[in-house]
Order: sequence, then structure tokens, then C-alpha cells
Amino acid sequence: MEVRITINGQEVSRDVEPRTLLVHFIRDTPGLTGTHWGCDTSNCGACVVLMDGKPVKSCTTLAAMCVGHEIRTVESLEQNGRLDPIQMGFHEKHGLHCGFCTPGMLMTTRALLDSNPNPTEAEIRTAISGAICRCTGYKNIVSAVRWAAEQEAAMKQEA
Ligand code: FES
Ligand code: FES
Repeated sequence: MEVRITINGQEVSRDVEPRTLLVHFIRDTPGLTGTHWGCDTSNCGACVVLMDGKPVKSCTTLAAMCVGHEIRTVESLEQNGRLDPIQMGFHEKHGLHCGFCTPGMLMTTRALLDSNPNPTEAEIRTAISGAICRCTGYKNIVSAVRWAAEQEAAMKQEA
């Protein structure tokens, strides 16, 4: 079947099997291999992308379900060579070690800050509760999100 999805503002159209998962549709698109594919069972969160601004696990979402929706992947965070504050936060606070969970963590926490610009530690931990990190112990990830929240607040004040 022909599936046409808007990914990072660009329309991507391909003839795929009806059972094709969103994660494969995305990763089979040139330049879009940043979304990771881990457990394939909706447990790890490495595959999280945004659908209309809400985090979804692309390993358990059919590509065909995304027709007419806006998908955002980790590649959309950097704009014109400038990192998104959430990316800067992970860099500043060492929010990653191996990096496997990172694309999903970045998109999950981007969605959090979009809906709640000043989250508490508890709210951050709840937001990332569907994402597993085997390396960091989560402490630095929480610090990274707090750093990004403060950075974004400061940027808004300056604007
Ligand atoms: Fe989708 Fe693990 S690959 S949740
Ligand atoms: Fe390795 Fe999170 S940084 S799994």
C-alpha cells in the first residue's frame, strides 16, 4: 500500500506492506536512522518519536496509522546548526553514556518541556518512566532536563 507521512516537515511517500511499523518506515528513509529500534515490544522507549507533538513508540505503531499526522524525529531537534536546549542539557549534564536510549529520551523529554516548561524532578521521572536507560541511573538525565528547562526559560526572558 502507498503510505504518505509527514516526517520533520517533509512528505515521505513509499509503497510498503500494510504491517510495516513506523520505526522501519522512518529508518528506511535516507538520513533518518537516528530513531533507535531496541526491544520491539513497547518496553524500552528507544524508538520514541513525536506524533502531533505527543510521544509514541514507533516500534508498535503501524506506518499506515500515521497518514495525516505530523511525525517528528530526533533529527528535527537541531535547527540551522543550533542544538535544541534539550540536546544541550544532555551534553552539559552528561545525560548519556552509550547513547542507545538517547534519541527516545530526547524526544520524550522534548515533549515534556513542550507541555510542561518547568517540570519537577518527580514529573520528569514520571515522563521518562516508559524509557529504559541501562547506563546512567537516570540521575544525569533528570539533571539534563532541569538544565534545559532553565535554559529555555532564560531564552524566553531574553527574547
Ligand atoms: Fe520501541 Fe523498545 S523499540 S519501545
Ligand atoms: Fe546507554 Fe542510556 S546511555 S542506555
